[in-house]
Amino acid sequence: MLRVTFQGHSCFTITDGKSNIIIDPFLKGNPKAKAKPDEMKVDAVLLTHGHSDHLGDGIEIAKANKAQLIAPFELAMFCQSKGASVHPMHIGGSHDFPFGRVTLTIAHHGSGWVDGDTIIYLGNPCGFVIRMEGKNVYHAGDTGLFYDMKLIGELYPLDLALLPIGDNFTMGPREALKAAELLSPKMVIPMHYNTFDLIAQNPQAFLSRLPGAIGGKILEVGDSYEL
Ligand code: NI
Ligand code: MN
Repeated sequence: MLRVTFQGHSCFTITDGKSNIIIDPFLKGNPKAKAKPDEMKVDAVLLTHGHSDHLGDGIEIAKANKAQLIAPFELAMFCQSKGASVHPMHIGGSHDFPFGRVTLTIAHHGSGWVDGDTIIYLGNPCGFVIRMEGKNVYHAGDTGLFYDMKLIGELYPLDLALLPIGDNFTMGPREALKAAELLSPKMVIPMHYNTFDLIAQNPQAFLSRLPGAIGGKILEVGDSYEL
């Protein structure tokens, strides 16, 4: 059994009872988050891109846990320069880790860290397909809609898709509905909405429009879904 817990915004922890991973740990800076970075006991930290609402507390959590930080190459090198132990990957590649298999997928977005009055550009953003306990979980990262989502669903039949619906910076509900159709997962959990006013959305309205064959679930911060 896999337990997927929503930690707010785009942050999820996933455990199979043996290994624990965290994706996009935006905790300290997120007023809606309940967990604190020092409460996170993880074996790996996965980062989709370098924006502050995704990189978040990732370096601190990776260091505190002596956990490997898994990210696209440029972002991984940035985190290594800050003292984290990293495993760089890139889009299209997969790797078997002790906790499971990770594949990096495309994401149409940006990736950079604002350092005072300069922006450190951190290469391409990504999404993740994570295979643990024989289940495929897709975390889309921040992205616009892209037709190749159909390929992701075909190559890695998805048990769960975590999709941004906040609009403005990512897909909105209309695009995320099309994404769900293309990906054809068993279950969709929306993310990246209602953290701040600019990305306010009604997740119930979104779920009610999902095709009948695709289940949907809204997780409140701290709630888990088991698959
Ligand atoms: Ni972003
Ligand atoms: Mn974001």
